[in-house]
Amino acid sequence: MDGNGRWATNRGLPRTAGHSAGSETFRRISRYCRDIGVEYFTVYAFSTENWKRSHEEVEAILKLLDKYLREAIDTMEQERMKLVLLGDLSRLSPQLRALADRALEVGRNVQGMQVNVCFNYGGRDEILRAAKRYAEDYAAGKADADLDEAGFSAYLDSAGIPDPDIIIRSGGEQRTSNFLLWQSAYAEYWFTDTLWPDFGPAEIDAAIAAFGSRDRRFGGVKEAGKG
Ligand code: FPP
Repeated sequence: MDGNGRWATNRGLPRTAGHSAGSETFRRISRYCRDIGVEYFTVYAFSTENWKRSHEEVEAILKLLDKYLREAIDTMEQERMKLVLLGDLSRLSPQLRALADRALEVGRNVQGMQVNVCFNYGGRDEILRAAKRYAEDYAAGKADADLDEAGFSAYLDSAGIPDPDIIIRSGGEQRTSNFLLWQSAYAEYWFTDTLWPDFGPAEIDAAIAAFGSRDRRFGGVKEAGKG
């Protein structure tokens, strides 16, 4: 969800106003994705590096997270969407962690699109935490030495969630910035200069159209007559 800061600065507003606007876009785009049949929608809301930002900016984003978790707990059944946080939640306040747990609990009974919010998330950090958990299980005799990709995936924050088909980056940068490093191995990327608060359904449609025209070989070769 890149570009909130620039969107606000362009309007002479504080960066935090960009995050508020960006969180409205998040709400709008989540609903749009649900309505067109997306099953999993994942956003990168706060990276393990974002703590370096000003106290005011970090607090504003944490407040938005608090607000969205409360709202999700109250409305996810009726909205047919469940909210799950991915990332190292140990650095969040006990209050936020309790809300995240509650959202997870309520979401278990909800049929609908799963919205994953990556918060205090970094792809390398996720892989490292997974490796440590595996090592602990191995040392305790609870895991095999013969670890394969599926077995390792089960230690990631994204355990049980399919790998993404499309990764969209708004805001003009063309890099992955530590997002879903393991899971993105065969994802199709789509980049747009549109700043996240200005992002709309048209961008989702364009990304899906581009995805439809890509030739996904997963390392293999195209079969004659297919695709
Ligand atoms: C990146 O844009 C955006 C963020 C680091 C924060 C994203 C957070 C929200 C949209 C609100 C919280 C949402 C939820 C679901 C909790 P940037 O600030 O790096 O933009 P810039 O590159 O223009 O400075």
